[in-house]
Amino acid sequence: MPGYRDLFDASINDPAAFWGEAATAITWTREPQRILDDSRPPFYRWFPDAELNTCANALDRHVENGRGTQAALIYDSAVTDTKRSYTYAELLDQTARFAGALRALGVGKGDRVVIYMPMIPEAVIAMLACARLGAVHSVVFGGFAPHELAVRIDDVRPTVVVSASCGIEPSRIIEYKPMLDAAIAMVSHPPKNCVVVQRDRCHCELTEGRDLDWDDVMADATPAEAVPVAATDPLYVLYTSGTTGKPKGIVRDNGGHAVALAWSMGHIYDIAAGDVFWAASDVGWVVGHSYIVYAPLLVGATTVLYEGKPVGTPDPGAFWRVAAEHGVKALFTAPTAIRAIRKEDPDGRYLADYDLSALKYLFLAGERLDPDTYHWASDKLGIPVIDHWWQTETGWPIAANPMGTEALPLKAGSPTVPMPGYDVHILHDDGHGCDVGEEGAICIRLPLPPGTLPTLWNAENRFEASYLSEHPGYYLTGDGGHFDEDGYLFVMGRIDDVINVAGHRLSTGAIEEVLATHPSVAECAVIGIADEIKGQAPRGLVVVKAGAPTEGLAEELVQLVRAEIGAVASLKLVDVVPALPKTRSGKILRKTMRALAAGRDEPVPSTIEDPAVLDALTPILRT
Ligand code: COA
Ligand code: AMP
Repeated sequence: MPGYRDLFDASINDPAAFWGEAATAITWTREPQRILDDSRPPFYRWFPDAELNTCANALDRHVENGRGTQAALIYDSAVTDTKRSYTYAELLDQTARFAGALRALGVGKGDRVVIYMPMIPEAVIAMLACARLGAVHSVVFGGFAPHELAVRIDDVRPTVVVSASCGIEPSRIIEYKPMLDAAIAMVSHPPKNCVVVQRDRCHCELTEGRDLDWDDVMADATPAEAVPVAATDPLYVLYTSGTTGKPKGIVRDNGGHAVALAWSMGHIYDIAAGDVFWAASDVGWVVGHSYIVYAPLLVGATTVLYEGKPVGTPDPGAFWRVAAEHGVKALFTAPTAIRAIRKEDPDGRYLADYDLSALKYLFLAGERLDPDTYHWASDKLGIPVIDHWWQTETGWPIAANPMGTEALPLKAGSPTVPMPGYDVHILHDDGHGCDVGEEGAICIRLPLPPGTLPTLWNAENRFEASYLSEHPGYYLTGDGGHFDEDGYLFVMGRIDDVINVAGHRLSTGAIEEVLATHPSVAECAVIGIADEIKGQAPRGLVVVKAGAPTEGLAEELVQLVRAEIGAVASLKLVDVVPALPKTRSGKILRKTMRALAAGRDEPVPSTIEDPAVLDALTPILRT
C-alpha cells in the first residue's frame, strides 16, 4: 500500500486520477465520467456529470450488502440515562418513513429543511431523510438563541423546521419550542410546518395548523425511496461564524462530500465497515455532520451519538464509560473536553474503571491542541493522540496524521502534515511564500479537494471576497502558522476576528453587534483571551455614551449576549473603559489589544490616533 508521501504527491500531481479512483468507493446512479470541472476558476466542481443519493450510500447499500442487522447508530444519553441501538435496517426504515413524512409536507429536491435539535437520534434521522429526498438540510446548533435561529431561517428559507420540545443540559432543561416560536415570530420567511419531537422530560404546546408531532407524522408516513441528485447538488448548508455578524452559509455538495468522507474514514481514521467510531461533538457543528452522521455510515461503521458532557454527567469518567461500553475504536473530540476531564481527574483515576482495550486512537480537533493536553492524554491513554486541523469550510481534515495510511511520528503542537488534495502554502501579506519556520497566512492552492465548500449559500460574491481574493489562486484559511523543517504544519490561531470557545466557533464581530445595540453603549470591541479550559473566551470592552449609567451595565450586557446569541457565546467578562485605541482612520486596534491581553509586546502601529488611550487600557487588558 502506498505511504503518505506517495498518496499526497499523486493527489497534487493528478487530482482527477486520484479522486476518480477514490470515487469507486461510492455507489453512483450515474458514474462520473468527468472528475473535475476546472473551466471557471477560481470556482471548481467535482464529479460534474455524476448522480447519486447520499442517504442510499449511507444506509440502503449496507442493508443490501448484508449489514442490515449490524448497529448503525448507538444513542447513549448520559443526561436521560437512555441507551438505544439502531441497526442499519432500522435506521433505514425510520429514515425512509421520515423522508415520506417530509415529502407529504411538500418537501422535495432542492427544498430546505432547518433542523434545530438536541443530540437525539431523530436529529440524525431528519438529516438523512433530507438527503434521501435531495432536500437541503441546515442544522442550527441548539445552543443558539432565537435571533441566531431566525437569521438562519431567513437566509435559507426552509419549507419545514424539525425541532424538539427540549434539550437537556446538566444544569437545566433547555426548552427549544419557545425559542423556535420566538424565532419564527421574527422572520420574514416562516416555514410552512414544524415537526416537533416531544421528549419525555418536557412536552410543549404545538401551534395548531403549523406544528406537527413527530410520532404522528411517522405513524402516517409512506416510506420514500432515495432520489438521485447531481453530485454537485447541495446536500446541506451549515452556517458558521465569519468576521461579521452575518453567518456564512457553507454549502456542501453530495458527490464530493461522499467521496472525501469515505476516503478519510479509511485513510485518516483507520475505520472500516463494522468498526465503532465516536465523534463526541454535536450535530450542530461540522464535526457532527461529517463524523457523527455521514462518514461512519458511508463506510458501514457504527456511529455513537452521545448526549452528555465530558464531565458532570455524572463524572470525568463519562467518555471512558461510553468508549468501553460500546467498543469504540476511535474517539474524536475537542481538546477542551480533555482539558475539562483533566481538571477534574488530573491523575486519570477514572480510566482504571473501564476496559479501553478496543480504543486505538484519540483524535482531537476544533482548536489548537496545546502540548500539555497532548502529553497528558498520551500518557494516560497510552494510544496515539492525533491533533488534526480542519474547518467547517473544508468538512474534513486539511492536516492530520493519516493513521489508516501510515502512522507518522507525532509532534506535540502540530497537526502533522497536509492531507492529500490540500496543497498548503504559508504566504506573506504580499503573497510570496514564507520560509521554513516563518509564520504567515495558511493558504491552500486551488482547486480544493472534493468535499470542501464549492460556494456560500446564495452568496458567491462573498465566497470569492472572503476566501479567494486575498491571494489569487489560493483559498485563505483564516489561520496563521508555519511549516517546520520536516514539513510538519503548526497552526497557531486565527488571523481574523473569529475565536474558538470550547471548540465552538464564534465571531467577535457578532458579539460586538449585540453589545452595540444597548442604549448606553457608544462603541465596543470584543477580543478573544486565553481560557484555561475553553482555550479562548470572549472579553468585551465598552465605552458608554456621555452621561449613561454604568452601574450593573456589565451584567446587563452579559445577559443581552446570552439572549441574542445564546449561552454558548460564553461572554462573562465586560469592562467599561474610557476609550478604545484606534488608528487615525478610526479602525479599532483589536490585534494590538489581543496581543496586550495575551501578555505579548506588539509594536504599536504608527497609525495610532492617540497612544495615551492604549497606555490607559494596558493595565486593564493585562488583568
Ligand atoms: N443547547 C443549549 N445550551 C447549550 C448547548 C446546547 N446544545 N451547549 C452548550 N450550551 C450552554 C451550556 O449549558 C452553557 O450554559 P451556561 O453558561 O448557562 O452554563 C453555555 O452554553 C456554554 O457551554 P459550553 O461552552 O459547552 O461550556 P460548559 O461550561 O457547559 O462545558 C465543556 C465546558 C468543556 C465541558 C464543554 O464545552 C465541552 O464538552 N466541549 C466540547 C465541545 C465540542 O465537542 N465541540 C465541538 C467541536 S469538536
Ligand atoms: P470550525 O469551523 O468550527 O471547525 O473551526 C475551524 C477553526 O478552528 C480553524 O480555522 C482553526 O482556527 C480552529 N482549529 C480547528 N482545528 C484545529 C487544530 N487542530 N489546531 C488549531 N486550530 C484548529
